[in-house]
Amino acid sequence: MNIIIINGPNLNLLGKREPEIYGNQTFEDYFETLKQKFPQLKLHYFQSNIEGEIIGKIQEAGFSFDGIILNAAAYTHTSIGIGDAVKAITTPVIEVHISNTFSREEFRHQSYISPNAKGVILGFGLQSYDLAIQSFL
Ligand code: DQA
Repeated sequence: MNIIIINGPNLNLLGKREPEIYGNQTFEDYFETLKQKFPQLKLHYFQSNIEGEIIGKIQEAGFSFDGIILNAAAYTHTSIGIGDAVKAITTPVIEVHISNTFSREEFRHQSYISPNAKGVILGFGLQSYDLAIQSFL
């Protein structure tokens, strides 16, 4: 089973960025624990700060992979292009957020991904990704 985690802008700063919200661990470290926990899966990881690159990766994986776990970060709340890409593909997408976006500023309550996601998991810290993987199993 081929599953890709796609992370959006500023998520390359996990471990350094607002640790009170996003924790102390880098995503690269966490990704290693995910690979160890789910050895039966082919887990892939892509991060970009650039909207078009995220759209490109969604298109690339979106007709052949078994699942996409997408944390589009701030683009979640702004990007019609990423929302349209999620709608265009056949691979199911689970939208993930580390923080509970509904307990934060109002602009984070809007998502262009959710209407076309298979499901949404948010607020469980990095464990949100683990739960998303389990949802595919
Ligand atoms: C985030 C929540 C977004 O509102 C924010 O812009 C992020 C990270 C999260 O994982 O909690 O960068 O997607």
